[in-house]
Amino acid sequence: MIFHLKNVLDQTGIATILDTLNDAPWSAGRESAGRQAYAVKNNEQLPHDSQAMIAIRKQVLAGLDVHPQFFSATLPRRVFPPRVNRYSGETNSFGAHVDNAIRFAPDTGLRVRTDISCTLFLAPPESYDGGELIICEGQFERHVKLAAGDAIIYPGTSVHRVAPVTRGQRLACFFWIESMVREDDRRQLLFELDQTIMSLRDTNGEDSHAVSLTGTYHNLLRMWSNT
Ligand code: NI
Repeated sequence: MIFHLKNVLDQTGIATILDTLNDAPWSAGRESAGRQAYAVKNNEQLPHDSQAMIAIRKQVLAGLDVHPQFFSATLPRRVFPPRVNRYSGETNSFGAHVDNAIRFAPDTGLRVRTDISCTLFLAPPESYDGGELIICEGQFERHVKLAAGDAIIYPGTSVHRVAPVTRGQRLACFFWIESMVREDDRRQLLFELDQTIMSLRDTNGEDSHAVSLTGTYHNLLRMWSNT
């Protein structure tokens, strides 16, 4: 499932992050790449343990925590500590690749199976040219460039790339989610059911149909989840 999460961060939160990034240290993105990605990865990242990264990570995780659809759409079991990258100048692209299946968090040793990939856009789209996240879906490609503060979640299994940035700088936060429900199709079905139940409840209140379908949702989640 590919899904657009709107307003994970508001404009005040984005302004704080952009301010933090003004004098942040950057290092070569290749440092954390697997062997295949190493060959095509040409960007910069904030060191995972830098003060700027720690502050931004806290802000992003707090935004996800209160987002109305993040939990329902991802059913998170583990979230890899978010990182921030920059595409600009000579280090401006990331060729086609699939993310490593398992990521190890540097300090804690936390292992995360990358069921879901997430990119949270930090720079206003009009401030840079190029930089689209391009996700392959069979014979089609989806080009994604979102407002600052919005995020996209997409299957960790997909081939994707970032188009070269030809003006300005693309700043984004990226991370992975291991879901309690590993299978993408089951997760999507649960998400659609949950969203439909919520709109049914908004329209009709807590009637017997809403109660019954809520039971079905939780019983499916019980059957399919791994906590
Ligand atoms: Ni990737």
